[in-house]
Amino acid sequence: MNKQNTYKPIGVFDSGFGGLTVLKEIVKEMPQYDYLYLGDNARAPYGSRSFETVYEYTLECVKHLFDMGCELVILACNTASAKALRTIQQKDLPLIAPNKRVLGVIRPTTEIIGNYTQSGCVGVLGTAGTVSSGSYLVEIEKFFPDLKVYQEACPMWVPLIENNEYQNEGADFFIKKHVTNLMQQQPNIDAIILGCTHYPLIIDKIKSYLPSNVEVLSQGPIVAKGLKEYLQRHPEMEVNCSKSGTVSFYTTDLPETFDKAATLFYGAPVTSKHLAL
Ligand code: DGL
Repeated sequence: MNKQNTYKPIGVFDSGFGGLTVLKEIVKEMPQYDYLYLGDNARAPYGSRSFETVYEYTLECVKHLFDMGCELVILACNTASAKALRTIQQKDLPLIAPNKRVLGVIRPTTEIIGNYTQSGCVGVLGTAGTVSSGSYLVEIEKFFPDLKVYQEACPMWVPLIENNEYQNEGADFFIKKHVTNLMQQQPNIDAIILGCTHYPLIIDKIKSYLPSNVEVLSQGPIVAKGLKEYLQRHPEMEVNCSKSGTVSFYTTDLPETFDKAATLFYGAPVTSKHLAL
């Protein structure tokens, strides 16, 4: 059998670097599988883009991942999960790849958020696109209808992180501003979802502007656990994932630039290849 037939990595997609915070946890939880990461850095950030654009870009990247052998793709991007996932699952997959699957990061997070709050008031920090889509409100309502959910869009955070400015003083102004805005909506919030896969990079700064009783949840470990359970529930998909323990990285922008920043997100050296769209 040639590589094409045997190499069936799990695809992990993000607009840029953020999904690496999820990939890192998935690989830690299940190192046996092959993984293929794709960052659409050339067109990031997605957070302020329209539904149509996010859908179009995401679908294009998912098709590339399918062409590269992936049978299962995780949209490790809340913006893409909020704006493109449902249409891809319901409209595109039946036509282009009925046996392949695309999963997002919002559902695994909303399934467990109720376990982290005493007050019943939870917060969501995300991109403008994720917040305006209302996806978190809709999904949390399904699992925990009694919870009160408050959202805050943080449009400057992804650009600060993508441009490696997040450790500088200027970043603190915007981090404090949005954390304060969220807590002013409801001071009893005691659990906050980092509803953007870039935000774990600034979790310490976010926490520094919050009371110590507030739980701040990064999605990486939650999504990793959710994926493990998914593969246990779907053995027909699990057998389709090849198990040589490799991790490959692709970016739609310059690999040299990607590798430097990606190493910070992934926590280990990254060597990527360019993917031409
Ligand atoms: N990591 C993406 C998310 O989780 C960032 C979106 C963007 O590119 O603005 O939403």
